[in-house]
Order: sequence, then C-alpha cells, then structure tokens
Amino acid sequence: MKTLKLMERGSKILGAKYSILGGAMTWISESNLVSAMSNAGIFGVLASGAMDGDLLKTEIESTQEKTKRNFGVNIILVNPKLHDLVEVCGEKKVSHVILAGGIPDKSIIEKIHSYGMQVMTFSPSLSVAKRLFKHGIDSLILEGSEAGGHVGPVSTMVLIQDILLNLKEYPIFVAGGILRGEVVASVLQLGAVGCQLGTVFACCKESIAHENFKKALLRASGRNAVTPVQLDKKFSIAPVRAIENLGTEEFIAKQREVLAKFEKGEVALDNGRLLLEHFWAGSLRRAIREGDVDRGSLMAGQIVEIVKEEKSIEEIMETLLREAEGFLSHATLA
Ligand SMILES: Cc1cc2nc3c(=O)[nH]c(=O)nc-3n(C[C@H](O)[C@H](O)[C@H](O)COP(=O)(O)O)c2cc1C
Repeated sequence: MKTLKLMERGSKILGAKYSILGGAMTWISESNLVSAMSNAGIFGVLASGAMDGDLLKTEIESTQEKTKRNFGVNIILVNPKLHDLVEVCGEKKVSHVILAGGIPDKSIIEKIHSYGMQVMTFSPSLSVAKRLFKHGIDSLILEGSEAGGHVGPVSTMVLIQDILLNLKEYPIFVAGGILRGEVVASVLQLGAVGCQLGTVFACCKESIAHENFKKALLRASGRNAVTPVQLDKKFSIAPVRAIENLGTEEFIAKQREVLAKFEKGEVALDNGRLLLEHFWAGSLRRAIREGDVDRGSLMAGQIVEIVKEEKSIEEIMETLLREAEGFLSHATLA
C-alpha cells in the first residue's frame, strides 16, 4: 500500500499503524475515545485540559485498561499543575507528551525526556520551529488557523510552505482543515510524516460528546466556524474557532458593555479583561457534556463544511485510506 509506505516514518515515531493523530480535544478526548482511536490503528491523544495530577492519573489508567497500544497526553503549558502532569505521564509510562498553548522551554523538554517520553509541540513560525528542534523536541505539529479550538493566525497552507518545506529533514505532522485522503497523501508527499485530525473525531460514533453538540457541528458549514470578533485591541480576545451561536453574539455585547464601562472609568483595564476572560469559563463543558448548543462553546474547525455524517473511527479511516490510495495510484499513472 503506497499510503502506508509514505506513513512509515510517522508510524514509527508514534508507534501506531497509521501516522494519523486524533488531536486532543478538551472534554472530548477521554479514555473511551482515545483508546478506540489507538485500537483502530491511529494515535489517540488524551486532553488533560485543566486537570490536576490525580485526575489525569485516573484517565491514563482507564485508557490503559482499554488499549495496550500507544497514546499521547496533551498538556496545556499554562496549567499550574504542569510539572505534576508530566510526572504522572512519566510514572504511567505514557509514550508521548504533546505540549500545547505556548512555546515550551528547554527545561520542560528535558524533564519529559528524562522519563523516556517523546515531546511533540506546535510552532507558529519557522524561527520558533528551528529553535524547538534545537532544544530537542522529537516532532512538531503544524496547526493552521482553519482548525477547531485555540488557533494561531496563519493558515495550514502557509505553514506548510513556511515551515514544512524548509525543515524537510525533521519529523513534522500537519493539522487544521484536513480530512480527505487525497490531502493527507499530498501532505505526506510534501515531506510531512503524518497528519492530525480533530473536528471529524469530535463528531464520530465513539465520541462521548453530547448528541446536540455533534448535530450542531454536522449541520454547520465552514463559514459558521469562526473566531470571535475583537472590538478593541486593549481587550484582546483569544482566537478560538467555534460554531457561531447565541453565546457568540452575547460575547460581542459583553465586550461593548465592558468597553463602555472602561471608557467611563467604572471598570479598570485588568478587571475588564478578567470579565471577558471569564465569559466563556465552563462553556466548552456545557456544550460538549450538557448539550447547551446556544450558549456553550461549539469549538470546531472549518472542516465542518465537509463533515456531514456521524461515522465510526474505522469508517473514517477506511474512507481516508481509500482516497489516499486512489490518489497515489492515479498520480503514478498520470
Ligand atoms: C472541541 C475541540 C477541542 C480542542 N481542544 C484542544 C486541546 O485541549 N488541546 C490542543 O492542543 N488542541 C485542541 N484542539 C485542536 C485539535 O487537537 C486538533 O489539532 C484540531 O482540531 C485539528 O484541526 P481540525 O479541527 O481542522 O481537524 C481542539 C479542537 C476541538 C475541535
């Protein structure tokens, strides 16, 4: 199989049959989904979100009970329990730690390595990517702004040309707006070792996300998956891609209200920022676990444009591999 041949390097790095990562999704990537991913031959990644060490330990143990295969743990760098979480991963002999939400420094990379675990992380630019490899990361994920969840400003297509094509000797996975096998195959041909997919797995049969959440994503089109409008630079807003809903409108109204109060001197800058930061607190959980699709955060990527059916992981992979193989065979004949 031509696709598997192209995936060889990435599969070896992940210790999985296919060099496809099921990207971590807070409140979704828990033991059931992650073990199902790994059992299906891709590389599942647990999302540790705002967990503490004890919670993560339970989740890892529960995943290990359901699969003997490799899976990773995604840790957000700003989590105050960062070091505890790394230690738990090390003690539980997790194979890969994926650091997100910032640029990791050398010491945390070395700490993860001291347990024999691999380090993967993200980069927004070529210079940062070079520095990260110099600091010893094992592989990089390029995630473009089409992706669901917290995103950077640059698209997958530009990151491919800026980073991947300039660092071909390094192991790089590509994420953001990827679903069809033809695109996976093309990215592999360009020198990537694999791809990371998120949104499609949020809607898959094995995902424990609330039925309302899945339906909202399956019904949405790409143009509905937006990052929030920022009314004033002083109150900068984290770019989080999600399906627009009532909450999105209320967030704009809230910004207007805070801005007006700030201008009248009724609210200090820091307090105003805090009010906006707290606006979405708990909202991802509300959407994913409780099914509040009006006011909860419906994080999803632009790929919802073509995710229209709730399929099993096996069905998703079967289609992806068939498309990739068809594309590669055709490309050889042409
Ligand atoms: C609901 C949701 C939650 C996410 N949570 C996280 C997270 O906690 N950590 C992280 O690194 N990425 C997170 N992501 C990003 C995914 O891991 C993945 O990189 C992204 O979804 C890939 O792009 P795609 O959505 O176009 O498939 C999240 C994405 C979604 C849709």
